[in-house]
Amino acid sequence: MNLRFEPSRALTGKLRAPADKSISHRAALLGAMASEPVHIEGYLDAADTTSTLDAVRALGALVEIGEHEVIVRGTGLRDAHEPDGLIDVGNAGTLMRLLPGWLAAQDGRNFTLDGDESIRRRPVDRIAVPLRQMGAQIDARDGRFSPFQIHGARLRAISYELDVASAQVKSCVLLAGLAAEGATTVGEPARSRDHTERMLLAAGVAIHRNGRHVTVVDTDELALERLVVPGDPSSAAFMVAAGVLVPGSRLLISNVGVNWTRTGFLRILRRMQGIVLGDLEDESGELIAEEPISDLDVAHGQLEGTVVEGDEVPLAIDELPLVALLGCFAEGETVVHGAQELRVKEIDRIAGVVDGLRGLGADIEASHDGFAVRGSGGLRGGVIDAQGDHRMAMMGAIAGLASKEGVEVIGMEAAAVSYPGFVDDLAQLCS
Ligand code: S3P
Repeated sequence: MNLRFEPSRALTGKLRAPADKSISHRAALLGAMASEPVHIEGYLDAADTTSTLDAVRALGALVEIGEHEVIVRGTGLRDAHEPDGLIDVGNAGTLMRLLPGWLAAQDGRNFTLDGDESIRRRPVDRIAVPLRQMGAQIDARDGRFSPFQIHGARLRAISYELDVASAQVKSCVLLAGLAAEGATTVGEPARSRDHTERMLLAAGVAIHRNGRHVTVVDTDELALERLVVPGDPSSAAFMVAAGVLVPGSRLLISNVGVNWTRTGFLRILRRMQGIVLGDLEDESGELIAEEPISDLDVAHGQLEGTVVEGDEVPLAIDELPLVALLGCFAEGETVVHGAQELRVKEIDRIAGVVDGLRGLGADIEASHDGFAVRGSGGLRGGVIDAQGDHRMAMMGAIAGLASKEGVEVIGMEAAAVSYPGFVDDLAQLCS
């Protein structure tokens, strides 16, 4: 589906942020790992998170989808069923990287995971290495891609240092650690999102953080009754960008998750002089179980360029395409360093964003680990191909609203992976 987004008049009104994708995946997985039913309020109804519900069903969990909640009746930590066929993760990288942590601990059972074309290009060796150290056997295509097999085993605890700050890999090792004898520790080079840690703490697991290290001790079962999924700051970020870029706009976005590990984009935007008010969580060493939320009050204003360094990257990883877009409208230069991880997202997001925005008139260049944009008073417009990537599709739409001549997005349906109501929500704010 190709859609045109014309230059917009001011965006105004109030919007509730769609549910958080990362937290929804984790809620369904922990629900499946629990022995008692888990009630999940506000579960994201989108393609990626539906893949997770299908996966846990295939593993023996019962899933009831109600109007206000999803109830997952799990199998328990060590009793996932061996499915008849392969588990299809669709387009969901988080499912592909977190689920194996649980499956690796299913002693004597075998599982095969596969997904769509994009998933087949994304590396799984980063989880295979620690899971093998813990005692599982993992066989991946060409040693590092889907489809791959997991042969579950009795796991042993390990201490593992990640090469890249990845919440997916960290979470995978922590989930495996739940059923591995002893204390499993994961260290990361920079802080990444900590939803798994918070949810495990809420589930009564012995877990603690010490700087950039997290330790989890094996447990018999997870004690979770109810989980509430907050709004997704990464989805809300598109609306925030629209509000900041389209002259005259003033938006209120409610129920946004403001966990410090997810609000890097809002801090970068504030540094660019963007007007966004909200009660953001402060950085804290101490691990807490809650996921704080806030309303965001956004207004249009002139932006200034900024520099984003490596430590900030994991805290804004999914919003970096929007930083590039904002940079096109800012005074001076906007530079992102240390973001080579973008090359292994749904597409190579450095190449995709740079080529896509350049096609709309941006003065932007790629580097091996990021990009540099020189603000040139906005964007002309044109055509952008989402290449099947939800965040490229949504970035193209926002670019269109703020452009001089409008933007046609090729493959707008990709947005359904994380934000199925995106176009309707935008239309509501523009009307
Ligand atoms: C995610 C972590 C990030 C992010 C992805 C979701 C998660 O990936 O890009 O969209 O839910 O843990 P990495 O951990 O690979 O950086």
